[in-house]
Amino acid sequence: MKVLVTGGAGFVGSHTVDILLQHGHEVTVLDSFEPQVHGTVSAVPPHLAHYIAHGDIQFVQGNVENRELLKRLLEHCEAVIHLAAALGTAQSAHEPHMYCLANALGTATLMDVLLKEKTQVRKLVVASSASIYGEGCGWNPVRKVKVSPVRWAVDMQQGQWEPRDPEDGTIVEPRPITEDYPLKPTSVYALTKYFTEQVALLSGHKQEIGVICLRYTNIYGPRQSLSNPYTGPLAIFCSRFKSGKPPLVFEDGKQSRDFIHVKDVARANLLSIESSLMGAHVMNIGTGKATSLLEIIALLQEKMQVDIQPTIIQKARIGDIRHSFLDTKRAETLLGFKAQIPVHEGILDTIHALDGAYIEDKVDVALQELAQYHLITDTAGERV
Ligand SMILES: NC(=O)c1ccc[n+]([C@@H]2O[C@H](COP(=O)([O-])OP(=O)(O)OC[C@H]3O[C@@H](n4cnc5c(N)ncnc54)[C@H](O)[C@@H]3O)[C@@H](O)[C@H]2O)c1
Repeated sequence: MKVLVTGGAGFVGSHTVDILLQHGHEVTVLDSFEPQVHGTVSAVPPHLAHYIAHGDIQFVQGNVENRELLKRLLEHCEAVIHLAAALGTAQSAHEPHMYCLANALGTATLMDVLLKEKTQVRKLVVASSASIYGEGCGWNPVRKVKVSPVRWAVDMQQGQWEPRDPEDGTIVEPRPITEDYPLKPTSVYALTKYFTEQVALLSGHKQEIGVICLRYTNIYGPRQSLSNPYTGPLAIFCSRFKSGKPPLVFEDGKQSRDFIHVKDVARANLLSIESSLMGAHVMNIGTGKATSLLEIIALLQEKMQVDIQPTIIQKARIGDIRHSFLDTKRAETLLGFKAQIPVHEGILDTIHALDGAYIEDKVDVALQELAQYHLITDTAGERV
């Protein structure tokens, strides 16, 4: 199949290109090569340079919002994997224009071209995000019901970070989120990902294109940007340890995420374009297991053999959620996809990939930016 991968020079994109080539697909990559992701030394990443040098892929540097360019690239494509996006929940609060442009307008442009131009595209896979669920799903042990929990300002003022049932105030226990769970984006990034999948589902449906929106959880693995201080907690912690500095942890570090290895995600992308599913679908792509940030840090300390302790800053970033992990049965049923790499194993090649990797530690700059725009709360409830 002839596949266009937008954002194909990025983290998920590069592993998706690997697996597509391994399965005999013809790949074109469109990527704008954002300096925040690829660093200020804007060289083509080695894995991509290798493919370009051997004529294995067609690489085009450009923006997904560029209609004419997309039109030209889509003329001969049969499938699109749309990954290009700006990433970072916290940064999106002070860069809403950039996030709307790349994520919302970028996807709208893609759908516009698919709608109006003659193309061969019959399958579209769109990168969505678990962030669109907002504060996850909670179990109220008193009322014995699943609820859509909230975090109260008064709790945050006292360093009580756990969400509550808004109805009776009981602190809830996190539960896996199913696809039919109400969507409540709590950041500009999440809002743009919500738009991304919804515009793809609505317009794709009209064009008789099979559209599969994959709601990924937190992805980690080799080739994740080590320069972008806004994405990938695991990559950020790794680069801090590698630079001999303590990782900075918001709240108390007991917030949890569903960490999935990038090779599992690439396989989900492959299964999606190769599936015979038509119509519009959304699917969770995760492991179904929650791991706290402190557990991740302990794993990294053990495997990297460092005894640097994290700095727990007891402050919250505006828009962050407390717990998020996904129910993954739908993808298992419809795609035959199940994540295979447990985090204690997947973390090893992530650490290994640090050797010789380009690291630009901008965590302190990001912290200053968030403070400048009043996007961090202290435990006295003030925005600092
Ligand atoms: N990494 C995660 O944990 C995670 C979690 C959930 C969802 N996602 C989604 O998966 C997708 C891929 O994420 P990633 O981790 O590979 O990110 P990444 O930042 O490594 O890659 C994104 C790529 O898109 C390119 N890009 C950005 N804006 C562009 C534009 N306007 N036009 C063309 N190219 C552009 C960047 O240069 C980069 O190479 C994104 O859509 C993201 O929202 C990622």
